[in-house]
Parts: sequence; C-alpha cells; structure tokens
Amino acid sequence: MPPTLGVGLIGHAFMGAAHSHAWRTAPRFFDLPLAPELTVLVGRDATRVAEAAGTLGWSSTETDWRRLLERDDVDLVDICTPGDTHAEMAIAALEAGKHVLCEKPLANTVAEAEAMAAAAERAAASGVRAMVGFTYRRVPAIAFARQLVADGRLGEIRHVRAQYLQDWIADPAAPMSWRLQKEKAGSGALGDIGAHVVDLTQFITGQLLTGVSALLETFVKKRPLPASHGKLAGVGGEGMGEVTVDDAAVFLGRFTGGALATFEATRFALGRKNAIRIEVNGSAGSLAFDFEDMNVLHFYDGAEPASTAGFRRIVVTEPEHPYVGAWWPAGHGLGYEHGFTHQVVDLVTALAAGEQPTPSFADGLQVQRVLAAVERSAAENSAFTEIRTTAAEGEN
Ligand SMILES: NC(=O)c1ccc[n+]([C@@H]2O[C@H](COP(=O)([O-])OP(=O)(O)OC[C@H]3O[C@@H](n4cnc5c(N)ncnc54)[C@H](O)[C@@H]3O)[C@@H](O)[C@H]2O)c1
Repeated sequence: MPPTLGVGLIGHAFMGAAHSHAWRTAPRFFDLPLAPELTVLVGRDATRVAEAAGTLGWSSTETDWRRLLERDDVDLVDICTPGDTHAEMAIAALEAGKHVLCEKPLANTVAEAEAMAAAAERAAASGVRAMVGFTYRRVPAIAFARQLVADGRLGEIRHVRAQYLQDWIADPAAPMSWRLQKEKAGSGALGDIGAHVVDLTQFITGQLLTGVSALLETFVKKRPLPASHGKLAGVGGEGMGEVTVDDAAVFLGRFTGGALATFEATRFALGRKNAIRIEVNGSAGSLAFDFEDMNVLHFYDGAEPASTAGFRRIVVTEPEHPYVGAWWPAGHGLGYEHGFTHQVVDLVTALAAGEQPTPSFADGLQVQRVLAAVERSAAENSAFTEIRTTAAEGEN
C-alpha cells in the first residue's frame, strides 16, 4: 500500500461534492503513489455536515475549519468555499504545514492573491505545496488541445476566441446568492466563469495575456432574496437584495506571442448551460472546443489539400489521449466529474514526486491580475490596460 494522504475538505455543497467524488474515485481508477483518505469534512452546521459526510464518504467532521490545522491526520486542506474565505484558510493551512488545493478564482482581490502566492512560495521551501483548482484543464480534449499546440500543429497562434456562457440568472426572478455579492465573490461572471477561460486559453496556447480592453454590465440590479437554494440559483422569496457584481464581461486581449483574443463571460446567454467555447486559429491549423460536447475536439489541419481539408471531429476517448487510458473503452465518454478526478491524480502525483503541482498559486495570481485589469479597463471606458506579470506567475 502507498503512504496515505489525509484530506480535510471545507465546504460540502457543489464543489465539496465534486471534490469528494474525485478523492474517492481517483485511487480506484488510477495507480496513485499516495492513498488519499477522506479524513474530515468541514461544515458550519453539525447536523448538516454529519449528513453530508455520510453521503459523500468522509470518516469524521468538524464545524470550524481551524481544527484542520491542529489535526495530525490531515496532510492536505481542500478549500471548496466562496472566494472571500480562500486567503485566510489557505495561508493558515500552508503555515500549519498542510498542502492546499484551493478552488478558483484564487482570491477576491490581487492583494489577497499576492499574499497567498507568497505563502505558497514560503511553504514550498519545506516541501508543502499549493494548487488552484482550474479544473477544466483536466478535460481530456482540453489537455489534448494543449498538446497539439505544443507539438506545433497550429503553427503561430493568431486568434483566440473564448466564451463561457451560462443562463442560470437570465430570469430576473432568480434569487440573490453569494455569487451576486462582491464581498463574497469578488466579481460576477468575470471571476466565476471568465477566470476559467482566461486560464484555459493561456494553458492551451502556452502564452499569457499582456493586456485587455473590457466592458462589464449588470443587467438586473436587484433580485429577490432567496427562499431556498438550488444547485446554482434557487427560488426567490420575500424582500429584495442588491446585485453588486457584473452579470456579463466582454473583453479583447493580446497574448505574449502576438495573438489577438476575444473573451465573453455571461450567465445571461439563454439556452447555453455550460458552454465553454474556445477556438484557436494558427498559421498551420485551428482547433475548436465546446464543453457542452466535452468529449470532442475539432481540429483543422492547414497542411491538408484544399479539396479534402475540413474541421475533423476528434472523439477524444482513445487510450492515447490524456487521462483516458484509465477509464472506459474508446467512445464511452467522460463527464463533468472526471476533470476533478484528474485534478486529484495530477496533484497527488506531484506531491509524491516532491514537485510543484500546476496551476500553482502564482498561476492563480496571474489570472487574478487579468481579472483586475478587466475591471480597471471597464471602469476607464475600456482603455487598453496592461497586465504586469512576474517570471514565476503563469509558468503554467
Ligand atoms: N473548478 C470549478 O469548475 C468550479 C465550479 C464551481 C465553483 N467553483 C468554486 O468553488 C468555490 C465554492 O463554490 P461552490 O459552487 O461549491 O459554492 P456552494 O455555495 O455550492 O458551496 C459553498 C459551501 O461553502 C460553505 N462555507 C462558506 N463559508 C464557510 C466557512 N467559513 N466554513 C465552512 N464552510 C463554509 C457554504 O456553507 C457552502 O456549503 C468557489 O470558489 C467557486 O468559484 C469552482
């Protein structure tokens, strides 16, 4: 048996369930160098956390996340709570010598993200590691897209077109939630889903954004207070609350290699549920991806004769595709939850090898700088706003 890795997970709703599934499943399908143990689940309500622990497979519970810092059976703290809690929890865990997996966006402000990246750098000196959960990197078709770019199949990258489209608050009657409050979420569609496409496009191209020009809009400024919470939205009740974040973000950008980019992040695209759409055009080829058809990558090879050239629909389920060999026979597709399982696999593999898992907190900080530049640009009539990046940030 490999050595164990005791995990303490904070927050047992959407991401808590997705991460629990991943910790349970990863060692059952992949040969891991450490054996994750679902040691302790943290929630603030004793009854609810006990129920969740039973459902999700955790062997003990706590009602105060600070208890994780004192427990010798916890080697890694997995943070699945809203952004306003990330900095305090992650820095305390790293200082207590615990590895950290922290959900995205890394923080609510650049200052918090800087403090987190600094804490991660200090901890790394004694072998304690930190990683941010930009999970979609681990979708096989996305990881394969990065390989195609790295192998030169697209040539010089000229255009990056990225959208993250959802519609769960398109209805003005959809209630308030923490995702619509700046003090909880930091920003709206921008940080919640725009952060993913910023990370993904940088991951696929191997390049960083150098500047942006942006528009932000809040279409519905007041919403009913929630009567009950659903998976994302829920049901509205009595009274109204103020939406203090953007509903939609649209921005242009430039990449280090000279490519021009367009980005769109919205939760008002009626009919689009989780459409992460990325198209990249290079001098030698193009690729296109849509998460609503997540097992497929479209690839255009510019070297093919014009008479037969065309976008090829690659079903990314062959054993030679990234991550896929551990799963099912070809064509038996993967789903949303597999990205989280792959995230655990990569994290545990890096920890056992004494290596820095990616994306690091420095990578998370660089994305935070992009989000801040989008907000500054939008506040200044879309003025082109440069993004300062240090060498450690965005190493991918
Ligand atoms: N990687 C992804 O694809 C992805 C997807 C969705 C959400 N996220 C991120 O995951 C994080 C959580 O989002 P979610 O959708 O799971 O939210 P959620 O509202 O479903 O769950 C958050 C949970 O955290 C709990 N919580 C809040 N403060 C706490 C505290 N101090 N101590 C203990 N528990 C606390 C809440 O009670 C709730 O159960 C956010 O940072 C979000 O941006 C990432």
